[in-house]
Amino acid sequence: MIKLSNVASGLNGTIKIPGDKSISHRSVMFGAMAKGKTTVENFLLGEDCLSTIDCFTKLGVTIEKNGSNITVYGNGLEGLTEPTDILDVGNSGTTARLIIGILSGLPFHSVLIGDESIAKRPMKRVTGPLKEMGARIQGNQDGNFTPISIQGGHLRAIDFVSPVASAQVKSAILLAGIQGIGTTTVKEPYKSRDHTERMLRAFGVRVEEDEFTVSVQGGQELKANLHIIVPGDISSAAFYLVAGAIVPNSKITLERVGLNPTRTGILDVLKKMGATMSFSNVEEEAPEPFADITIETSTLNGTEVSGDIIPRLIDEIPIIALMATQAEGTTVIKDAEELKVKETNRIDTVVNELRKMGADIEATDDGMVIKGKSMLTGTNLNSYGDHRIGMMGAIASLIANGETSLENAEAINVSYPNFFEHMEELKKGKE
Ligand code: S3P
Repeated sequence: MIKLSNVASGLNGTIKIPGDKSISHRSVMFGAMAKGKTTVENFLLGEDCLSTIDCFTKLGVTIEKNGSNITVYGNGLEGLTEPTDILDVGNSGTTARLIIGILSGLPFHSVLIGDESIAKRPMKRVTGPLKEMGARIQGNQDGNFTPISIQGGHLRAIDFVSPVASAQVKSAILLAGIQGIGTTTVKEPYKSRDHTERMLRAFGVRVEEDEFTVSVQGGQELKANLHIIVPGDISSAAFYLVAGAIVPNSKITLERVGLNPTRTGILDVLKKMGATMSFSNVEEEAPEPFADITIETSTLNGTEVSGDIIPRLIDEIPIIALMATQAEGTTVIKDAEELKVKETNRIDTVVNELRKMGADIEATDDGMVIKGKSMLTGTNLNSYGDHRIGMMGAIASLIANGETSLENAEAINVSYPNFFEHMEELKKGKE
């Protein structure tokens, strides 16, 4: 349990946001599948991405770490070998779902486990279509929950219509698809984040896209000798973007934040709610655009967040909910049922924690309704082991009256290991 206090003098200064979690995972996975050396700069040393490194090390890949730079020595798909140990994905849904897709096409047996949260997260959304492709997968409740056992082998292509816009589902099937016979297609209800498509292309794989449909031909090899620069994670930046907007007397610059359009829903919401933001050092070059973002204390108004923007900000909804408590009027978040199957049921955990602080917030079936503006009061918060719930609570403490305590704060290490160091720097106003 840690104790947190509010900040009267504002948050000021410049911070460098740690590497993007989604891109960091993929750099290890695709580097491991490719033939040759992949060097990665600004890799996220959060627990989730370390779980990915651990799993691929157990699959026979040499991965060297040097601070936040890593080198992956891939030997192609045939260089991945049967693990003698169980693969432990920890808290990471991305590791679990993408690795199942990769292992489905490889001629050996592996067993996958994770932590308590992973054991509750639905895997059938990937194991179902992968079994249709020919993979032999077993797990609790008909392959829906860990522990999961995978006997990989020959795969055939699939035309899969996904009921959810999920990059994890799309990626798992595409990663199996490039190992199968024929052309695999995934169609989504809305476009989910496209880091897999962008990075596969950088590794020389042909990927066809048409609005909400992505296709790959089987039998393609990934070619390495690549240097990947991971931009800062916009999902981590979101916490300090909102902090900058809601904490009085603040002005914060966040350096090299990834601006992939499939991830920038949070910026659209900030603008719509009235935040004062500016962009500099914009780098639009493929494969992943980024820029520095400056934000300052702003007068905010409520808004509706629904429809096709949801996959573009799904991980930012906890911090958007906190922002809405500080906006005039009502904010309605809809079409976000996916929140129920994240690290926690984030409709419940967000509403619980913000309500404890005095927010006017109601859960709905597919989101929440927040009425602002509320004065928040310090209390005893819990992350429930969910990094984003922990960070939402810690940012809320900055504007709350009195002291806040946060149980299970260490969950934040999953995606933002230096979160509290950045908070201290910004409180001191270090440039
Ligand atoms: C991720 C996709 C999203 C996101 C998660 C990371 C990825 O999950 O919530 O934090 O790296 O592909 P879904 O695919 O379940 O929407």
